[in-house]
Amino acid sequence: MNAPDLKLVADSTRAAGVSRFHESARAQVAGTATYIDDIPEVRGTLHAAPVCSPIAHGKLKGLDASAALVLPGVQGFVSAADIPGDPILAAFGHDEPVFAQDKVLFIGQVGGLILADDAMTARRAARLVKWDIETLPPVLTPQEAHAAQSYVLPPVHVKRGDAAAALARAPHTLEGRFEVGGQEHLYLEGQIAYVLPLEQNQWWVYSSTQHPGEVQHWVSHVLGLHNHAVKVECRRMGGGFGGKETQAGHLAVWAAVAAQKLKRPVKLRLDRDDDFMITGKRHPFAYSYQVGFDDSGLLCGLKLEMLANCGFSADLSGPVADRAIFHADNAYFLEDVAVSSYRCKTNTQSHTAFRGFGGPQGVIVIERIMSDIARHLGLDALDVRLRNLYGIENRNVTHYQMQVEDNILEPLMTTLAQTSRYRERHEAIAEWNASSSVIKRGIALTPVKFGISFTATLFNQAGALVHVYTDGSVQVNHGGTEMGQGLNTKVAAIVADELGVPFERVLSTASDTSKVPNASATAASSGTDLNGRAAQFAARNVRDNLASFVAGLDGCGAGAVRFVNGQIISPSKTRQWEDVVGAAYANRIQLWSDGFYRTPKIHYDKVTMLGRPFYYFSYGAACTEVAIDTLTGEYRVVAVDILHDVGQSINPAIDIGQIEGAFVQGMGWLTTEQLVWNNKGYLQTHAPSTYKIPATGDVPEHFKVALWPEPNREDNVFGSKAVGEPPFMLGISVYEALRDAVAQAGGQPDAMNAPATAEEVLRAVQGF
Ligand code: MTE
Ligand code: MOS
Repeated sequence: MNAPDLKLVADSTRAAGVSRFHESARAQVAGTATYIDDIPEVRGTLHAAPVCSPIAHGKLKGLDASAALVLPGVQGFVSAADIPGDPILAAFGHDEPVFAQDKVLFIGQVGGLILADDAMTARRAARLVKWDIETLPPVLTPQEAHAAQSYVLPPVHVKRGDAAAALARAPHTLEGRFEVGGQEHLYLEGQIAYVLPLEQNQWWVYSSTQHPGEVQHWVSHVLGLHNHAVKVECRRMGGGFGGKETQAGHLAVWAAVAAQKLKRPVKLRLDRDDDFMITGKRHPFAYSYQVGFDDSGLLCGLKLEMLANCGFSADLSGPVADRAIFHADNAYFLEDVAVSSYRCKTNTQSHTAFRGFGGPQGVIVIERIMSDIARHLGLDALDVRLRNLYGIENRNVTHYQMQVEDNILEPLMTTLAQTSRYRERHEAIAEWNASSSVIKRGIALTPVKFGISFTATLFNQAGALVHVYTDGSVQVNHGGTEMGQGLNTKVAAIVADELGVPFERVLSTASDTSKVPNASATAASSGTDLNGRAAQFAARNVRDNLASFVAGLDGCGAGAVRFVNGQIISPSKTRQWEDVVGAAYANRIQLWSDGFYRTPKIHYDKVTMLGRPFYYFSYGAACTEVAIDTLTGEYRVVAVDILHDVGQSINPAIDIGQIEGAFVQGMGWLTTEQLVWNNKGYLQTHAPSTYKIPATGDVPEHFKVALWPEPNREDNVFGSKAVGEPPFMLGISVYEALRDAVAQAGGQPDAMNAPATAEEVLRAVQGF
């Protein structure tokens, strides 16, 4: 692991560009950082537990809570009949009932809540509620749904050129079919909401959410109120990873319905098993493809069909499946291509955002194809990848007609190949394998190119408030949320530099819909790009006010006044920041401001999917070596070298942490994290005991991360690039290295689905 220099540089003239501790790191370690369950409970607070459907598909004839209601400590039951506003959630598709009504659509669907004096009583009682369901056959796989044309949204087709003709004349073709599993978010802090009734039908909602604005919207919708009557606050999440983009809203809505009916504050904290059973996960995908290529491995023609298992409702499946289409090229120019994407409706949890937001499900298929072409032709997979990169002559326009202007992959990948000694190790591994009968090694170097911006263009806007108090201390509030990714730390550094004050002067405060309204979800990795810029603009307004004030005092131009090191310097005089702030206040100068930012240059046609959906791309590559035991299928990730592009880093320690964390999470998705639904649609892996995420012992012993030394070529805040999601896809190098090892063991890498559990590796090695 890397040990970035974490010395706080007290005399540094800049807050950004320096490795700094996360603003909450010390409080989190000390246990004094507040999560929602730590907020002191208001007198009269009731605790809620969900009542979950035991059947995957059926007609709902009734719910009988009488056995639950007589349990001592139980205070009530709420269900669909208690909803004052719209019983359908204000979600994208408007296709999800708040509580099950008339039918049940998956095991775990919430039909109501039991309210009790304490959480354990509520949970015990919830299990006593009787469901009266007439069972119907469930649809459990995307293939079944596709065959029945059962979709949550219409299919989407994107094409360029003539894939069929290109395939017909291609010197070589390959066909493939495989599946990639979903992924549970397993945020350390589970889903939670705490709803407090205020005076005159106003509401205060604490929600562990990536999207307070949407929680506000949903709660007011279901209570039949205007948005302004609901305030949603979130200081931090113990991880979100996309799982708290929409899913957090459900809890808040359920708790709000209960609080409204019982006229009491209500806290709903899901127990981990319920969290697994109720909330959506990463979309599992099934693929089939035909690809054509020449003797050099150059692609000519790709037909790709992707089936997304969306679960019972649309949720974010549209944009997720769209992003899979946008990333089916990853780093490579696809000349004649036809992609069809089907959004399959099944009787499972409604799958949702998860780090990469469909991007990983697009990238993995083309990376798999690259390795397969190389094996087929007996070429080195790195050479086939380099051969197909975007970048030369007329090969720089994506299949959705966006020009790739900032491509750095060729130099980035060749640099990594050198620093990781990919070619020498590749040869050494082949030699080693020749003499090792049981243990076989494999290696892969795979890139990522990830589009930055929300594909829904309207979400690419943000607001912020910067307050300077009379003692010179600064508070910044923005529409983003903190989930451990370091957004607040980065935004505070940006504000500090804009005002020329030390980092410690600036405090980031809780996300709050009553401070910055209409904020987008903190998602699509764009938290800092959007909110950092909005905060920079807000700080700049305050700075401009102070500069004009000083210019007036000293008879110079405002542009000649500099803000640096806690001082305000005009050509004739140097003053302390706090002295100027105090004097400006006394002279009635505004010391606070808002800031607003919208991403430039982006546009695309939602129907044809053509245009420039992304402001820029983030790039990276990983070289991974694995060793498999061909007798058991067990394996180890031996070494990982990463070279990743974060532009001009605002905080290298945080960026490297994001890269390491994303890589390991991507590795978990493709290796040990297996979700198993039985033939009744029951999720059998609903706890950490049966669902295996990577632990510290799974982190490769050799794990080196280096940053690409070049600022963002687009004008982005402080020259930085988004980092939250792109490195997740570097985990694909583990999967490809495993397939390489399977091939070197004489097995069948084509037969290997993801996750590549030990069983799956053994199956591929032995070919059964
Ligand atoms: N890092 C931590 N520690 N915890 C998280 O929940 N979420 C990821 C990523 N990094 C996450 C994380 C996801 S899915 C996204 S979209 C981004 O952070 C969101 O934050 P950002 O836009 O500020 O990078
Ligand atoms: Mo991240 S999946 O965009 O919340």
